[in-house]
Amino acid sequence: MNTSVLQGKKIVVGVTGGIAVYKAVDVVSKLRKAGAEVHVMMTREATEFVTELTFREISGQPVAQDMWAKVQQYNVEHIALANLADLMLIVPATANILAKAAQGIADDLVTTTLLATKAPLFFAPAMNTNMLEHPATQHNLTLLRERGAHIIEPATGHLACGVEGKGRLPEPAVIVEAVLDYFAEAKSLQGKKVLVTAGGTEEPLDPVRFLGNRSTGRMGYAIAEAAARRGAETILVTGPTGLDLPVGVRAIKVRSAREMEQAVLEEYDSTDVVIKAAAVADYRPKETSSQKIKKSDGELTLTLVRNPDILYELGQKKKHQLLVGFAAETNDLEDYAKKKLEKKNLDFIVANDVSAKDAGFGTDTNRVQIFYRDGREESQPLMSKTKLAGLILDRVKEHLNEMYEGIDLFSKG
Ligand code: CTP
Repeated sequence: MNTSVLQGKKIVVGVTGGIAVYKAVDVVSKLRKAGAEVHVMMTREATEFVTELTFREISGQPVAQDMWAKVQQYNVEHIALANLADLMLIVPATANILAKAAQGIADDLVTTTLLATKAPLFFAPAMNTNMLEHPATQHNLTLLRERGAHIIEPATGHLACGVEGKGRLPEPAVIVEAVLDYFAEAKSLQGKKVLVTAGGTEEPLDPVRFLGNRSTGRMGYAIAEAAARRGAETILVTGPTGLDLPVGVRAIKVRSAREMEQAVLEEYDSTDVVIKAAAVADYRPKETSSQKIKKSDGELTLTLVRNPDILYELGQKKKHQLLVGFAAETNDLEDYAKKKLEKKNLDFIVANDVSAKDAGFGTDTNRVQIFYRDGREESQPLMSKTKLAGLILDRVKEHLNEMYEGIDLFSKG
C-alpha cells in the first residue's frame, strides 16, 4: 500500500446514520495515519450511533455537525469544507444520502457540502440487501456513477438486520485502499507530456465550404481530460468540434490536416506519448478557391490530392515516444488495424467498427479491440468513452513502466 500519496491531502469524510458508523471511525484513523488531514462532518442521525467526540479525537480536527444547530457558522462551514476538500468520502452512505445526492437535495450540512464541492466524491454504501437492491437505490447509484462519483462496492455477509446478503460496509482497509488508488492514479502520468489529437479535419474548397467527416471529437477530448487528471502535461491538438475544452489541457486549435501536422510536429520532440484519436482527412481539394465557387449547369469535378499521413510521419521520426493510433473501420477490422499498427510503427492501436450504431462517431460509447506490437490483443465490451479513455491511459502507463524497466540504469557505457 503506497500511503505516501495521502501526505497532506485534505479529505472530508461525511458520516451518515447507519449501524456501520463504528467502522467509519477506523477509516478516519487509517486515513490520518497515512498522512491525510481528515475533516469529519456528521448528520444528526450519525450522532445517534457514535458521538462527535470520538471523531474529534480520532481525526484531531473539530467535527462539523448539523448546520441548523450552528447557524452562525452556516456560510463558513459548508463552503469552507467544500472548498478545502481534495476528496470527499461518505462512509457509511445510507440509501437516504444516496437518494439526496443523486437528486441534488441539500437539507443538512453533509448534503449541502456534497452539492457545493468540486472535489471527487466517494460513497461507501451500507444498508439492508432489499434497500440496496431496490430499483430506486440502484437508479440513484447509476446516476451518481454517471456523474463521475466513485461507488465502493458493498460487501456480502452478515447484516445487522440478522440476514446474510449484500450491503455490508466493506472493511475499512478496502475503503482506504480505494482512496489511495485514486490519489496514486492522479499522479500516474506526472512528469509526462501527452499529446492528444481529436476531432475531424476540415479541408477547404472555398471560403464557405469544406470537406469534412463525422468525427465529434468526444473520444479524443475524453482522453485529454483523463491525461490531465492523471497529472500529465497535456496538449490537445483539436480540429473544429462543438465541445468545451477540458480543464487543465493546453489546446491548439487547427482546421486542416496540414495545420494539424504542423502543430503536432512542433511539439513532438519533447512529447512522451502521442495518442492520435483525430479523424484526419486523407485527401484535400487540389485547389482552394479564394472566392465562393458559383454553380453552373452540369457536373462539377473536384480533384483531390493526398494529405500527409501524420501518424506515419511520427512513426518514422519516433525516438523515445510511445505512439498510439486509432483505426476506424467498417469491415475487416482486425486485418486493417494490424496493418496500420505495423506500417505506422505504433506501440498499440485502438480499433473500432464505425458502422456499429452504439460505437464510433457521434456516440457516447465505444466498443474496441486493442492490438499490440508484440502480438497481444484484447477485446473490450461496450463502454463509455470516458471509461475507455481511462483504460487506454492505463495501457499507456503499463507500456511506459515496461519501457523504463527495460533501461539498464547501472550499466557503464
Ligand atoms: N491518421 C493520420 N493522418 C492521416 C490519416 C490518419 O495521422 N492522414 C491517423 C489517425 O489519427 C488514426 C490512424 O492514423 O490514429 C488511422 O486512421 P484511419 O483513418 O483509420 O486510417 P488511414 O491511415 O487513413 O487509412 P484508411 O483511410 O485507408 O483506412
